[in-house]
Amino acid sequence: MKLRLGGFSVERVLRKFLPRSLLGRSLLIVLVPLVLLQAVALQFFYGSHLNELSRRLAGGVAGEAGFMIDEIDRAPNTRGLVIQETDKHFQFNTVFLPGQVLRHLPRPDAPGPVDDDLARGLAMELHRPFNVAWNTTPDFIRVNVQMTDGVLRIDVPRKRLYIGTFYLFFVWLIGTAGFLFGISALFLRTQVRGITRLAVAAESFGMGRDPGPIKPEGAIEVRRAATAFNRMQERLRRFLAQRTTMLAGVSHDLRTPLTRLRLSLAMLPDIQPDELAEMTGDIEEMEQLIATYLSFARGEGSEQASPTDVANLLEDVAAAARRAGGIISCEAPEGLTVTLRPEAMRRALTNLVENARRHASHVWLNAVINGRTLRITIEDDGPGIPASQRETVFRPFETASPGGTGLGLAIARDIVGAHGGDIFLLDRPGGGLRVVIVLPA
Ligand SMILES: Nc1ncnc2c1ncn2[C@@H]1O[C@H](COP(=O)(O)OP(=O)(O)OP(=O)(O)O)[C@@H](O)[C@H]1O
Ligand SMILES: [Mg+2]
Repeated sequence: MKLRLGGFSVERVLRKFLPRSLLGRSLLIVLVPLVLLQAVALQFFYGSHLNELSRRLAGGVAGEAGFMIDEIDRAPNTRGLVIQETDKHFQFNTVFLPGQVLRHLPRPDAPGPVDDDLARGLAMELHRPFNVAWNTTPDFIRVNVQMTDGVLRIDVPRKRLYIGTFYLFFVWLIGTAGFLFGISALFLRTQVRGITRLAVAAESFGMGRDPGPIKPEGAIEVRRAATAFNRMQERLRRFLAQRTTMLAGVSHDLRTPLTRLRLSLAMLPDIQPDELAEMTGDIEEMEQLIATYLSFARGEGSEQASPTDVANLLEDVAAAARRAGGIISCEAPEGLTVTLRPEAMRRALTNLVENARRHASHVWLNAVINGRTLRITIEDDGPGIPASQRETVFRPFETASPGGTGLGLAIARDIVGAHGGDIFLLDRPGGGLRVVIVLPA
């Protein structure tokens, strides 16, 4: 469903501003309702509740002041006694200032709700001029009332008007919200860590590395995914091992009868020499094929990676290709050492150089390191491979060369993949094929 508001896609805006990580999103899901709930509760419940409370407190104080003034009005000669009694019972602190006249006092800059409530209450109760000084002392609010013969100055304790605990309550609310948020962040992090670990392991397994089984952790679904991944990894590994063993077995078993065949061929009494040469040639080709299958099946799995001089490696491969006949140019920085499995990598490079040599007259080998990436390029001036076939030529047994097994590129890609790298077929500017091997260094 797409929501649009005035030309803006809400989805797009949300996607832009919402956190992208699972942890961020989960925390948001926890945090938004928490904050909303507290805001609503504070506003609707405590807000109105506090207003009512403050109105009643102010009303009470105003009523008591009104009562005192009414008493004084009824019997002005008992004023001292009335003041004494009301001060005692209402915690006021009252002084009569004879002959004085009320001064005009400025309104407070920003009257709070309590100030308004008190002023309103006093106006209702006193029925005579008064003013309120809010800030004369920290503990009292001073109410001055105009009597007929002077000014009555009543100091009302602030704590009779304000509910101090409200702020404590607010702090407490924020504190618990923060605490809950912290706990959920900790808890969610564990959940997310399980998923992240799974993603990292899947990625590295896909690159041909062996991440090993991952520890299932977090919620039941995440654990299940991790367990399923471990099982899949194990099954794939077993399947690969099975395939390798079978291929190796078949190749190996074919060798013996072939050798026998070659021997009996040589023993045949009446055979033409050219026929013999042809048949021996066929058998040799078969043996060659089998040797290739065997080495493919054996893989390079048992070889350990070690720091290898890339220039040396390339020069070795080039020298071997030159011996087989071909113009090979080689260019690599001196002293460039990368950790890899040298025999496996030599085989991959040899396959690629062999291909190039077979199709072209000139081959260029080149290596560069760029940050943490090693790029090895093998170029030739042959016919190249059309873009539409660049994926199929990697398939095992896919070959257009007479006498080829179609395993060369498949093996090369296997080996490069096992190093966590990748291999690309491109056009060489000026004609021919450019093979690029990218390896993490
Ligand atoms: N440098 C190249 N130029 C043109 N075509 C190529 C080149 N390299 C490979 N190819 C094409 O890709 C196909 C597959 O190559 P691959 O190395 O996998 O097998 P092969 O060379 O035929 O056999 P093998 O290498 O096992 O002896 C080749 O048959 C060829 O058609
Ligand atoms: Mg080949």
